[in-house]
Amino acid sequence: MLDIRGTKTEENIDKDICEKAKLSIRLRIYGRQAEKEGYRYIADIFNENADRLEELAMAGYRIINGGVNETRENLNTVAQIFADMEGRNDMYKGYSDDAVNDGLDEIADVFENVMNIETGMAEKFSELSESMINDRFYRRDGEEKWECMVCGYNKTDRNAPNICPVCGGGRGNFRVR
Ligand SMILES: [Fe+2]
Repeated sequence: MLDIRGTKTEENIDKDICEKAKLSIRLRIYGRQAEKEGYRYIADIFNENADRLEELAMAGYRIINGGVNETRENLNTVAQIFADMEGRNDMYKGYSDDAVNDGLDEIADVFENVMNIETGMAEKFSELSESMINDRFYRRDGEEKWECMVCGYNKTDRNAPNICPVCGGGRGNFRVR
């Protein structure tokens, strides 16, 4: 994999990822609108091209990051991003104050809501990362109700089943109910 850190090309790809992400969101919103208006085919075209833009953005992401790490590390990375929740809360409080100063009280409330939602995300990723690091993702200290996300089979046990006896799927399909 090429090392492009610190180059103008890295900067260009980074900018392109942001633009593609924004354009993709726009296409998805337009897709929902087209669906609401009953234009199913046009909605599909919006969504299909949003998918493609995201694929292109992901290709760019893989180039500037030199590939993608394994899930264990990715969970830790995201948990770290959210770890500074106090910093993020300060940021949103600042945005909220700016909105009030701009006379946009309703938007100030939106930032408060975003802050609360992200706090929930921070907790979820921290919990997932911890359980992965401590090898507790499929092995718990106490009994849990494990549910197969494919067929709905469930079993109460300390460990997730290795294989689902109903649909034959692997352990990765189980979640704690
Ligand atoms: Fe199953």
